Amino acid sequence: MQDKYGRIIDYMRISITDRCNLRCRYCMPEGIPGIPGEEILTYEEIIRVCSQAAALGISNYKITGGEPLVREECYQLVEGLKQIPGVRQVTMTTNGVLLQEALPRFLTSGLDGINISLDTVNPALYRQITGFDKLSRVLLAIEAAAAGALRVKINVVLQKNVNLGEWQALAELAQAYPVDVRFIELMPIGSGKNQEAVSNHWLLAQMRQQYPGISFDASVHGNGPAVYYRIPGFQGAIGFISAIHGKFCQSCNRIRLTAAGELKPCLCYKDTVSLREAARAGEDDKIRALLEKAVAIKPGMHCFEELSQVTEEHKMVQIGG
Ligand code: GTP
Ligand code: 5AD
Ligand code: SF4
Repeated sequence: MQDKYGRIIDYMRISITDRCNLRCRYCMPEGIPGIPGEEILTYEEIIRVCSQAAALGISNYKITGGEPLVREECYQLVEGLKQIPGVRQVTMTTNGVLLQEALPRFLTSGLDGINISLDTVNPALYRQITGFDKLSRVLLAIEAAAAGALRVKINVVLQKNVNLGEWQALAELAQAYPVDVRFIELMPIGSGKNQEAVSNHWLLAQMRQQYPGISFDASVHGNGPAVYYRIPGFQGAIGFISAIHGKFCQSCNRIRLTAAGELKPCLCYKDTVSLREAARAGEDDKIRALLEKAVAIKPGMHCFEELSQVTEEHKMVQIGG
């Protein structure tokens, strides 16, 4: 599908739950209401929606949450998606806490890649950021995933006065393992509104000082907005998702499906198109029309630099990143 700005929309992010087993404050503050269970799309309904989306040219899918692995048998959704004609890639973004046990199922499910969120390698700081002592589980999951055939990426959000000093230890995971490490600028969604993003320009300058051989890597690593660099001696690449200081909206290729069956054309705005009823009723023509409508109303860009115009009031955990 093409939107009115000429962008090809071929990537859908599917949030399968708004629940999470961690409590990173910038993503999931205390006290947010959960989506009632009966409103959550079943895997069958998601597959039905994605069959229509694939027929319209959406070939790449990212499973997100909340935390997707808190929803049971999530690998079955991967298997179902991979069987749809026109589906090329299915990947998942997880916090990694439940990944090690789940990994064998995913390795045989057809999953093409896995992104693991990790903001520190310091156990005390991990507890401070996420509320839980789960760092060792995540590190074991990274090691196990990196040893398999999946493409593995680590997602880091740096916050001033919290984990800024961790960037080098995190970047060096790409030296120790064949994984890409990506630094995501904090976006003003949810509690991200209360603090300024660490600039990836600043971070790249730090990296140039530390690793003078760092160089731009033009190869394609995924379907998202990251820009990659290589450091000599590192197995994986370093990626930058510069949502604030390197706006990438002109190359946006995606729409989002929330766990409650709402199509969300842009991260920044609250407007959605609900296809839950059509998915429940099995009305394929209507699902297609709603997908086309969501793409037709897709805004040209976010306005994160002008907070008063950001209309999205949900937290990132409810959107899925
Ligand atoms: P791959 O590169 O294919 O692995 O996909 P990805 O980078 O899109 O996946 P991931 O789920 O790891 O997302 C990483 C970060 O990119 C998350 O924080 C997302 O919120 C952010 N991101 C993804 N899509 C958009 C977008 O449309 N706009 C903005 N501003 N940020 C996005
Ligand atoms: N800004 C940028 N990234 C965020 N994430 C969660 N909240 C924000 C935010 N406000 C990241 C998580 C995860 C990805 C899906 O989104 O750290 O890696
Ligand atoms: Fe943290 Fe990810 Fe859970 Fe959000 S979804 S609270 S970033 S672990």
